[in-house]
Amino acid sequence: MSTFRDGLLAGKTAFVAGGTSGINLGIAIRFAQLGARVAVVGRDPAKSQAAAASIGSHALGLAADVRDCAAIRSALEQAAGELGPLDIVVSGAAGNFVAPALRMSANGFRTVIDIDLNGTFNVFRGCHDLLVRPGASLIAISAGQAVNPITMQAHVCAAKAGINQLVRVLAMEWGPDIRVNGISPGPIGGTEGMSRLAPGAPPDGGIQEWIALKRWGRIEEVAESAVFLSSPAASYVTGIILDCDGGSQLGDATRRDPTQGVKS
Ligand code: COA
Repeated sequence: MSTFRDGLLAGKTAFVAGGTSGINLGIAIRFAQLGARVAVVGRDPAKSQAAAASIGSHALGLAADVRDCAAIRSALEQAAGELGPLDIVVSGAAGNFVAPALRMSANGFRTVIDIDLNGTFNVFRGCHDLLVRPGASLIAISAGQAVNPITMQAHVCAAKAGINQLVRVLAMEWGPDIRVNGISPGPIGGTEGMSRLAPGAPPDGGIQEWIALKRWGRIEEVAESAVFLSSPAASYVTGIILDCDGGSQLGDATRRDPTQGVKS
């Protein structure tokens, strides 16, 4: 896929928290393909190094837990120090497990809130004075659970709803020099999230009659949304949550003939 022109992000520096796998790594790879200098951050140093190596020789792999405010701050400082002031910051680290609320301990609930919601605050709050102004773009990775309640996902629903509001408030407080947006991916093939939520499904999800676009999305498609939000094409866009979801959050799009079984 080559929706955006080569060199679109040349000279830009991007920091991607959670960028060592899945959607976030896909975003980091796409930013680098378009010319950005990229730092990826994950909890595991070896995984961070491997992710950076897969992006290219100029990528920086850093280890920090988004729950640890000081560790994230020093990763942000290191990225800005080595690569230059930050133009794009993505907060995408996420945790999930499937369990009814009555089988969640307080610590289990808190762990997901800590990674997703508090982690996003730590990344965004921590990067503020390291950003290029004007023009910096911050992107949080949200999810449909923010808006549509799903059983067995009390922690994620609460955390992602908080992220959506955090995005809107920071967009108001940090404009006009900094834009703050979110992306809400639908079901995306090849991600740890979908392997947890739909175990046993084919890697790309196969045909999905219930989704308006009849399929799961691809990591590359979410990456294109991140490029759009980081590009001059989105210069008047802030405070939005962009649904990159094939219409899955609209509800069940199964085509039924309403006259079937009705006697005339
Ligand atoms: N059901 C109920 N509780 C669970 C659980 C499950 N399937 N999995 C974890 N927990 C609980 C643990 O029991 C623990 O609570 P306790 O101390 O009261 O027993 C709490 O969650 C924290 O678990 P722990 O494994 O110590 O935390 P962690 O920081 O190592 O892991 C998680 C974080 C729980 C989110 C883990 O699932 C994870 O790391 N996942 C990888 C990333 C991921 O989920 N990606 C998908 C993104 S959509």
